[in-house]
Amino acid sequence: MKTVLITGGNKGIGLALTKAFLELDYKVIAIARDFKDFAYADKVECIEYDLTHAEGIPALIDSLGQIDTLLNNAGVCIRSLMMLTHKKKWTVCSNSISKHR
Ligand SMILES: NC(=O)c1ccc[n+]([C@@H]2O[C@H](COP(=O)([O-])OP(=O)(O)OC[C@H]3O[C@@H](n4cnc5c(N)ncnc54)[C@H](OP(=O)(O)O)[C@@H]3O)[C@@H](O)[C@H]2O)c1
Repeated sequence: MKTVLITGGNKGIGLALTKAFLELDYKVIAIARDFKDFAYADKVECIEYDLTHAEGIPALIDSLGQIDTLLNNAGVCIRSLMMLTHKKKWTVCSNSISKHR
């Protein structure tokens, strides 16, 4: 069985991805801050973690074992000028920079 890690797999687009990968018989691991009211809690390995805490991410990933597919989906949309936005918020809203770490 293949494993997919979906950040923000509990809501919105991430939830749709979670459903799709469960249908494909993947083991789904989801990371988000709050899994309350998450309908797939019995089928998904749910990890409550705030991904703005970047310092803990390497250890978290190391604890998960093999990941075949990563969907780096978690994020928020902040409608303000980039130069006026706090660095952590900008990090989360700009998914594109994570691959450069
Ligand atoms: N919907 C659009 O039209 C659109 C357009 C362009 C890009 N996007 C991007 O696509 C992604 C998903 O969008 P969406 O519409 O599905 O958004 P959404 O419904 O607001 O879902 C955001 C997801 O990210 C998680 N998340 C947010 N901040 C987090 C944090 N600090 N740590 C861990 N998890 C966090 C949320 O879970 P918790 O709140 O439980 O932590 C939730 O699962 C986002 O990155 C968004 O920027 C969306």
